[in-house]
This record gives sequence, structure tokens and C-alpha cells, in this order.
Amino acid sequence: MTKKPSLHPASVEELTPIEARAEHARLHEEIAAHDRRYYQEDAPTISDADYDALRRRYEELERAFPELATAQSLTKTVGAKPSEKFAKVKHVVPMLSLGNVFSDEELEEFVARVRRFLGLRDGPLRFTFEPKIDGLSCSLRYEKGHLVQAATRGDGYEGEDVTANVRTIDEIPQRLRGDHSDIFEVRGEVYMTHKDFAALNARQQESGKTLFANPRNAAAGSLRQLDSKITASRPLHFFAYGWGETSALPANTQLGVLDALRRYGLPVNPLTTLCESSEDMLAHYRAIETQRATLGYDIDGVVYKVDDIALQERLGFVSRAPRWAVARKFPAERATTILRDIEIQVGRTGALTPVARLEPVTVGGVVVQNATLHNEDEIARKDIRIGDTVVVQRAGDVIPQIVDVVKEKRPTGAKPYQFPHVCPRCGSAALREIDEKTGEADVVRRCTGSLVCPAQAIERLKHFASRNAMDIEGLGDKQIELFFQEGLIRTPSDIFTLEERDRASLTKIKNREGYGETSVRNLFAAIEARRSVPINRFIFALGVRHVGETNARRLARHFGDFESLRETARDASLGSEARARIDSIDGVGPVVAEALHDFFAEPHNERELDALLKRITLEPMPAVASTSPVSGKTVVFTGALERLTRDEAKAQAERFGAHVAASVSKKTDLVVAGPGAGSKLKKAAELGIEVISEDEWFKRTGQG
Ligand code: IVH
Repeated sequence: MTKKPSLHPASVEELTPIEARAEHARLHEEIAAHDRRYYQEDAPTISDADYDALRRRYEELERAFPELATAQSLTKTVGAKPSEKFAKVKHVVPMLSLGNVFSDEELEEFVARVRRFLGLRDGPLRFTFEPKIDGLSCSLRYEKGHLVQAATRGDGYEGEDVTANVRTIDEIPQRLRGDHSDIFEVRGEVYMTHKDFAALNARQQESGKTLFANPRNAAAGSLRQLDSKITASRPLHFFAYGWGETSALPANTQLGVLDALRRYGLPVNPLTTLCESSEDMLAHYRAIETQRATLGYDIDGVVYKVDDIALQERLGFVSRAPRWAVARKFPAERATTILRDIEIQVGRTGALTPVARLEPVTVGGVVVQNATLHNEDEIARKDIRIGDTVVVQRAGDVIPQIVDVVKEKRPTGAKPYQFPHVCPRCGSAALREIDEKTGEADVVRRCTGSLVCPAQAIERLKHFASRNAMDIEGLGDKQIELFFQEGLIRTPSDIFTLEERDRASLTKIKNREGYGETSVRNLFAAIEARRSVPINRFIFALGVRHVGETNARRLARHFGDFESLRETARDASLGSEARARIDSIDGVGPVVAEALHDFFAEPHNERELDALLKRITLEPMPAVASTSPVSGKTVVFTGALERLTRDEAKAQAERFGAHVAASVSKKTDLVVAGPGAGSKLKKAAELGIEVISEDEWFKRTGQG
């Protein structure tokens, strides 16, 4: 555990791209080797803190040199990839993670969000309360009551087959008791108690073996053993908290299913209970906070879940976490240190994010030297200045943050921080969008040089060439990454000079790995074929903020030719006639108008557009072909919907490719009306627009 990681002494900003690449490759090897030792050999050779330092440096390199963040990057792997030594198991129902809240206010916001989504202003809404066990999650598959397979979470979609090891855990039944459905996947946490952990480490020490850092690592190391005799010798426990694939559920509430699991013979945490109100939810949390030290096993917070399973289903998931559940984590640990510098990073979408560079300090056992400062307003609100003594907070696995400034320790002469108004990567203007309704500036300042900014380049290029944009076959994400890293393609126009340059021997694509004569010829042919594209595709391909395919079509339809869009957008400063013109295009509105102006008024983008338009020809927009019965249609929902909330209806319609408008106009194709619909219904009748019921909507979208 004493080996120190070999970190480069220079700060990332001082590195040349070549040095950065070399260091990144070296760290990649080093971290991968540590991962192997930790996850597969159960024998780490460095401390968690030192490992974290390596990871942080690796991530820092990728932030400063985004071209290093390829699909193979270790930052792209979620959780631990299933190890080669175990057979892999695909999770039919993915094992996802949970969103986190850290305060009473955030918990109340979560409850409010759930209510809003469900359209439940008041009225009962029950949540279960469960301790969040700090172990590793495991999926147990029972078929006709027999345990047939056990798998770790892995990356959420594919885990490791640990059946033989799980069979050694006494608490996990080999056969379910009583009545149960044919297929039942039980999900829960494998953990180790404090007492067993201490005894195991004592044994490890006696026999000169590596000590485990905490009970969670010990449980993970014990479950992921190749030899199940070793697992059998390690006392592991299990708490069930959910389910994966099932042929039928034994109850229609979370608590009901947990009760059934208990009847089947599985351990369910005895502190699991039901909350009738937000007050209840907070009170249970307070109670467990005080009990925590005496539980005998680690919990890192609590989990709240909407109890009613039908509601869980309506709420669904956002990205990798359910909308119907949230984890409340225990408070973070804090420390004070000096803020050495504020660095502005430019994200892949052009967002400028301030990052604090700190005098390294240990917070909760991890060395922290970078922390997030959130945004410009936060820095101003807290009046954070370079040289200040600041309070750093770290909670669970979230990025450390600066929560306070110790003003008494401020060095004389420290000046208020001036957030840059130009992009540090490309020199384009960095602006904050103004909300026309409230007149307030967006919290995020963004680089407007999206066509030229190196920080945004790869994402932009991928978008530009993608299927729904320019649709350049053979120029997928991988090829773009390769060509970008080698400096062959930096901006969209470079795509169209690639062949020319290749002929002139300025590039040598043919000799590249995976590029034979035929593939080079095919690539050039695909590029050639896209020298003439419909104008709407081109507008979409530019990747202007808020301009998706629908808006691109609207703009193409309205302006007809690209030059008039370009001129109007360039002239569309706030309050101008040009701005009003864009603003008034049906469905477009002020946010898009502002984004278009910011994009077309930026000289760097202008130059790139000139270069592009020299090489490609724009065709008129083709007629739209529809794929699903409502795809491409403009739909208006009105009246009281009974089966859906407005948010849900909108999300659903968009999923089926429809566009949802707030009011009925000539452009509306379909009105979905519930009871009590008024003026919109009248307007629809006047305009001869089709009106259907909510039930008919479900039928038409193939939902029965
Ligand atoms: S529910 C989609 N309930 O926490 C629902 N998870 O941060 C996902 N965990 O991967 C999980 N106790 O390993 C749930 N009572 C509990 C839990 C729990 C511990 C772990 C689990 C999960 C992680 C998410």
C-alpha cells in the first residue's frame, strides 16, 4: 500500500499536446493495472487516495485535451467492466443507479418534482424509506423458485456471473418459499458487517495478506473470487431491496413486494418503512442518522422510493436513474485550504466552467486539489477570490465543491474575480443567453465559436457528419476521433478538402490502420456524395444551440435559402427588426433567435461557413416522410387529461416523433382534447383540424 503514484509534476496547462498524450497513455496503463489488481486480483497495491489522485490527473488531462477522451478512455467506463475471468451476464432489466440529494430542501424539491410529473398537487403520495446499504449490488435470478444465476452489477447492462460464490452465502436461499412467479430476479446489496470486517482484516494481517480499506471493498473482493471456497470463508450478508425481470409481481407497492420477498425467505432490511408525508421522510432520516453508528454495518445514506408501482412505471427513468427514487446521502466532509487559481474549462457543448485549483488537502480520506466552483454567479455571490482560504466539501462520489470563503484570512490586495468574456480555448465571444420573459441571464456562459472551438470540435464534427445531419457514411464517431487526433480534420470544411489534401500527399490516409485502398475510395465517395445536401440538413448539421431537426426545417421553410437566414441572423441583435422576424416564425421563438444571432454573428464561425459553402451546394428542402402515425406532426394537448400529465404527454409525443405546440394554429395537425377543453377546441373546429380523445391518442400511438 506504500507505492506512490507517479504523477507528472507539471500542471496540465503547461503541457504540450504531445506531452499530454504521452502522460495520458502512461496513466491509462497504470490505472488499468491498478483496476486489474483491485477488481480481479483482489490485491490493490496503492491506497484509495493515491489511486484517486491518478484518476484525477487522468481526467484533468482529458478536460484540457479533449481529443484524448476517446471511447476507450477509462472515464467512459461506468462502475467496473465485467472482468474477463467471470462469465458475463446480460441484465434484461438494467441495474441502474440513483440520483442523490444532500439536504432537506433538495429532498422536498424531489417530492415536488414527482408530484408535478404525476399531476398530483395534493392528495396522498407515499414513499418507502430504506437504508442505503454500502455494499455491492447483486441480481439473483430464481426460476420456478430455484436460484439459477447470480450476477454483479458490472456496468449496469452486463455483469459478472458469481453464481457459485453467491451459493455460499447462507442468508441467500437456494429455493424460494411459498407462492412466487416462475421468473423472479431479486436485486439487493451484498455487504459485510463491521465485526466480520475487523475479524477478516485481523486474519489477513496475520497471514501477511493485503488489508481491505473498508467493509464494502472487503465484500466486493470476497464476492468476486475465482475460488468459491474463499468466498465461503468470508461471512457475507444480503439485503433485498428490489427486483429485475419478473413474470409477475406479488404486490402493487414497493413495500408489498418487499414483504413478499421476506415471505420467500430473503432478508429485507428491518428499518424499511413507509412515509406518508415529506415531514415523515425527513423525520426518518434524522432518526437513522443517530442510529447509524450502532447498526453494525455501513450505510451511506437512505433511499426513498415512490411506493405505488403503477406510479413508478409512469415516472420511468431519466438517463441512468429512476425518476421515482432518490438517495439522500449523509453529509459531506469538509476541510479548508487555499485557492491557488481559477481555471476555466470549456466543455464539449461550449459551456465555460470554473474549476478551483487548490493547495492539496485531505477531505474524508481523499486528497483534493480541484473543486468545482459551479458558475460565474456562484463565484460572485460567494465573492471567491484567488488566494482566498476556502472551505472544500466532498460528499460521496460527487465532485468536491467550494462551499464557503474564510474572509478573515483574505490576503491584502486580492481582487474580485473577473469571469472571462471570451473563450479561453478559441478566443470567440462567450455569452450568456438571456431569458426574454424574465430578462435574466442563463447561469452558464458559453463559447459561441462552436464551429471552430477545439474544445467543442470533436462533438461538433460528430454531429455534423451524423446520420440525421450531413449523413456522411464512413465518417462515424471513431473515424472522426482518429482524424481529429491526427490533425486531418479540425473543422467541418476540412472534411471536404480531405481528398484534395490526400492527393497532394499532405495526408496519407491510405496507410492508416484499417484504411485500405477500398475504404479510402469509399470514404471519399461518401464525402463527394454529400457535397450537395438539403438546406435543412445543413442548418441542423451546424449544431446551433436549440436548433434541432424541427427548428432547422422551420428555418429552411421560412427562409428558403441559406444566405437570407445567415444575413437575418447576423443582423438579429436584441430589439432589431431582424430579431423580430426570426422570433415570429411559428414554433421558433426568442431563445432560438438569440442562439442563431450569437452563432452567425461570431466572426470565427463566419469564416468557417465561407469555407464550407465554397465546397458544398445546398438543395431545397425535400418533403417530409412520416414513419409513425404521429411522427413529424404538430400536436396540441388541451383540456383535462386523465391518464397523463402535461409533462408526460409531451414526453410521450416527442418520443413518437411529434412536435408539441402550446396553441392551435394553421400548423397544428392534431388536437388531443380531454374534458373541459375550451377555446383551443373551438379554434381547431374553425380551422378544420382533427380532434381526438386521450384514449384515441393511446390507440394511435400503439399503446392500446
Ligand atoms: S435502489 C433503480 N435501494 O445504491 C434503483 N439501491 O446508488 C436502483 N443501494 O446500485 C437501486 N441500498 O447498489 C436501492 N435500498 C436500496 C439500496 C440501494 C443500497 C445501492 C445499490 C445501487 C446504488 C445506487
